[in-house]
Amino acid sequence: MKITVDGVAYEVAEGRTILQALDDLGLLMNGVDVPHYCWHPKLSIDGSCRLCQVEIEGVPKLQIACNTVVAEGMAIHTRNERVRKAREGVMELLLVNHPLDCPICDKAGECKLQDYAFDYGVPHARTREPRRAAKKRVDLGPTIVFDQERCIFCRRCVRFCREVPGTGELGIFVRGDRSVLETFPGTPLDNDYSMNVADICPVGALTTKDFRFKIRVWFLEDVPGVCTGCANGCNVHLGVANNRVYRYLPRRNDAVNGTWICDEGRLSYHRIGAADRIDGHALHGADGRREQASLDAAVAAAAAALRAVIERQGPGAIGALASPHATNEDLFVLRRFLEALGSTQAGFAVPTWRADALLRKPEAAANAAGCRALGFGDAAPLLERVRGGAVAGLLVLGHDVLATAGTAALDALRGLDALVLADSHRSALEGLAQVVFATRVPAEKLGTITNHAGRVQRVVPAVEPPFEAHAEGEIVWRIAQALDLPGFAGAYDVRAISKELAQAEDAFAGRDLDALPPEGAPLHGAGVG
Ligand code: SF4
Ligand code: SF4
Ligand code: FES
Repeated sequence: MKITVDGVAYEVAEGRTILQALDDLGLLMNGVDVPHYCWHPKLSIDGSCRLCQVEIEGVPKLQIACNTVVAEGMAIHTRNERVRKAREGVMELLLVNHPLDCPICDKAGECKLQDYAFDYGVPHARTREPRRAAKKRVDLGPTIVFDQERCIFCRRCVRFCREVPGTGELGIFVRGDRSVLETFPGTPLDNDYSMNVADICPVGALTTKDFRFKIRVWFLEDVPGVCTGCANGCNVHLGVANNRVYRYLPRRNDAVNGTWICDEGRLSYHRIGAADRIDGHALHGADGRREQASLDAAVAAAAAALRAVIERQGPGAIGALASPHATNEDLFVLRRFLEALGSTQAGFAVPTWRADALLRKPEAAANAAGCRALGFGDAAPLLERVRGGAVAGLLVLGHDVLATAGTAALDALRGLDALVLADSHRSALEGLAQVVFATRVPAEKLGTITNHAGRVQRVVPAVEPPFEAHAEGEIVWRIAQALDLPGFAGAYDVRAISKELAQAEDAFAGRDLDALPPEGAPLHGAGVG
C-alpha cells in the first residue's frame, strides 16, 4: 500500500506499523527521524515511552508511530512544529529524574538519551523538587551492572529476557515515580544471551562488566566482522583501537542473527589477543628444543620434512588435516596442494559445544560447512591410515582434532615421520610437530567463511598480530612452492584465490570476496541461512 511521509510517497507492506514500515524501507533514523526508546525491531511493542509521536492527517491527536498500523493513503508528518513540541515535552519529563552524567557514563557516545537530549532537550529544568535518589552499580548477575537512576523504564530489557532467551529474570516493580527495574528475588540475570540487554538499553543504565570503563567508545573504530565461536556465524561489529579488539557488538543481519549474539560468542574476542597464542614460526628439534624461525626458514624445513617422506613412500603418504577455523580460501589452497601432490589423504575434525534453539549451533567452529563444501570428510579414517603407517607425513591446520579424538589423536600422530603444524593457539600438538607455523585468526585475515546453513560471509582484518603470523592459505601456498608443485607460481593473493574458488566450484559461483554483499550470500544449492 501507499503512504506518504513528510510529503514523500512510499510503497509499504500491509499490516506493518509506521516504525516497522520505515525500518523495512531502511529509512528509520536514516532519512526519516522518529526518535524512539521503547520500540525495538525484534521485540514486542510496548508503546510506553511516547517519544515516537507523529501527526497523521485527519487524526486530531498525535499518534505513536510504534503502535499505529499503516493504512492506504496515510499521510504522516514527522518533523513539523507540533511533533517537535511533543518530543520536547517527553524529553523534559524524562530528564526530570534522569541525570545527564555523560562525562562519567560509559554509554556516552552511543546513548539515545544523550542524542535526543541534544536534539529535543530543554535548556533549563522547570522543577525544583529534589531528584529521585537511586542505587548505583547494582550487580544484576555475572555479566551486567545496573545504574538505577539512569533507567527510563522503556522495558526493553524486561521484554528481551521474556521473549528472546525466555528466562524472564527482570521486572519493573512499584508504580509511579517509585518504579524500579529489578531482578526477581533469587533470580540473577544469568542466561546465555544476557549481555544483549546492554546493547538495547537506550541509555547507560545497563552496562557489561566486560567492557565497562575499558575505553571511551569514540576512540573505537568499527570493523564489520563475523563471530567465529560457532557455526552460526553471527554478524558482529569489532570495536578496535590501538591494534586491539575491545569488544564485539551484534551487527544486524536478519538472515543470520537478527540483532543478537550469545554471551560466549561476544566474549570470544578475548581469544584474539590471548596469552596462549602461538607467537611466531618455530622449528622443534628431536630433543624438544624450540627455535624461533623466519617464515622462509620454517617453509624450507617443512618442505624438507615432507620431501623426505615423498622420496621414501611417495606423495600418497602425505596427508592433511583441515581446520573448520580456516577460511574457504585457506581450505581451497590446501585442497589444491593435495591435488597437485596427487594425495587423497585428507579430513577434518570439528569441536562441538552446547547448542540451543536460538543461535548457538552444535559445531563450535565457523567453517565446518566450508570444509564439507570443499570436499573434506571426517578425520577418523585419515587417523586410521596414520596409525597403519600408510600416511607418514601430515600437514595439520589447527588442533581441532584434539577436541574430538583427544589423546587417541596424539598417540596416532606421535608415530609420524613428518608433522607440520599451522595453528593460532598452543596445544599438546605443538610439542609433536617438527615445524610450527603461527597462523592468523579470522579477525586478522581477509577471506570468507561458510556458516551452518551455507551462507558465505566475509571477514576482513581488524587488527594485525603483534608477531609474525600468516594465513593458513599462505603457509600452504609457500610450502607447495618449495616442493615445486605445479599451480603455485607467484605470490599468494587471497583475492585471486577467492576468484579461482568461485570459478572452480559451482556452489561458490559469485561468492568471491569482492562479490559478496555485507550480509553474505548462500552457497548455490544450500538452504538460505
Ligand atoms: S534498564 Fe535500560 S532497557 Fe531496561 S527498562 Fe531501564 S532504560 Fe529500558
Ligand atoms: S551463536 Fe555462535 S556465532 Fe553467534 S555469537 Fe554465539 S558463538 Fe558466535
Ligand atoms: S517507541 Fe513508540 S512509544 Fe516508545
